[in-house]
Amino acid sequence: MPESPIRKLVPYAEAAKKRGTKVYHLNIGQPDIKTPEVALNAVKNIDFSVLEYSHSAGFDSYREKLSNYYQTHGVDVNKQDIIITTGGSEALLFALGSTLDQGDEVIIPEPFYANYNGFSTASGVKVVPVISTIDEGFALPPIASFEQLITPKTKAILICNPGNPTGYVYSAAEMQQLADLVIKHDLFLIADEVYREFIYDDNVKHQSVMNMPTIADHAIMIDSVSKRFSMCGARIGCIVSKNAEVITTAMKFAQARLSPPSLAQIASEAALDTPDTYFDEVKKEYKTRRDLLVSGLRQIDGVQVAEPKGAFYCIAKLPVKNADHFAQWLLESYNYQGETVMVAPAAGFYSSPNVGLDEIRLAYVLNVADIEKSVLILKEALKVYNS
Ligand SMILES: Cc1ncc(COP(=O)(O)O)c(C=O)c1O
Repeated sequence: MPESPIRKLVPYAEAAKKRGTKVYHLNIGQPDIKTPEVALNAVKNIDFSVLEYSHSAGFDSYREKLSNYYQTHGVDVNKQDIIITTGGSEALLFALGSTLDQGDEVIIPEPFYANYNGFSTASGVKVVPVISTIDEGFALPPIASFEQLITPKTKAILICNPGNPTGYVYSAAEMQQLADLVIKHDLFLIADEVYREFIYDDNVKHQSVMNMPTIADHAIMIDSVSKRFSMCGARIGCIVSKNAEVITTAMKFAQARLSPPSLAQIASEAALDTPDTYFDEVKKEYKTRRDLLVSGLRQIDGVQVAEPKGAFYCIAKLPVKNADHFAQWLLESYNYQGETVMVAPAAGFYSSPNVGLDEIRLAYVLNVADIEKSVLILKEALKVYNS
């Protein structure tokens, strides 16, 4: 199993904290946004005597309400298309397990969410990366570069939209290109849409894979409450597909692990009553943070950033040879007035060797003051590191 680039520097951060250094965590997508009260209240004073398993597909009432939520938010999903999972993480495992056999290949534009490597390894599946670049803003690579990689073993293309770690949002035209490709080669298109609500520019529209009728049988959507409702600890997500065979197969995985967590489903079901004003405020806050981080980073000599359109991450190219070493040095050997920052070296978000060595991923999940401070620390640190 590959190690997680997001968590591997944790021991160095812990040691820095023991030495009394304050560490700003830009390395991990744990939002500081409050979980909606309706969700918390639903489980606060709950009255039951047995904490039972639920149905393997999740509570019927939750699936029903979730499908209504999708419909009212313009995503074409019905109850029978949904299996509730233990986080989007388990949905990814079910999706790979249901569509690829051992030794089959999944093509993924990189840089990609690092755990796709781990889930693929665990499923005995080979990741075939296709590189997207910071110079192109991490747009979809040319379709010809996907086509070159297709072999008899290729069964699926996996995308993250909006993208972690790039923040890129695929346009309707790019999604159509992918749709044409999966039809031509009879592949599945697995779309990880856990950041669907987090889009910051009015002229950028999200194209859900569920709203593309021509690929209804090829499309699988991955979703989660973790980021949408700031409920990462609930461990609730879902796998969604209109292909009944995919859902029947995923149900075998779901039955093998018995059920998703019952208490967290109650909270997640209640979270669907969160007023839209919650999202308006959350999006406004993230947009402010994004703008601050991107403009701050761009003012540092030698730093390149592709502006993220969605999610809450960005990749920054640094004037260093080895961002892995720099990230460790920040925690082990550097502090600016008793403070430092923790970032995720981006090489772990690529599966091609020796790519992204000078890049880091930053999560803009801290408040405005902390982001300002973190940018200042990075700027001062780079001066010292490169002197
Ligand atoms: C792109 C993406 N997909 C899936 C997940 C998994 O989320 P969870 O298992 O908490 O639902 C994450 C978590 O950060 C993510 O960033």
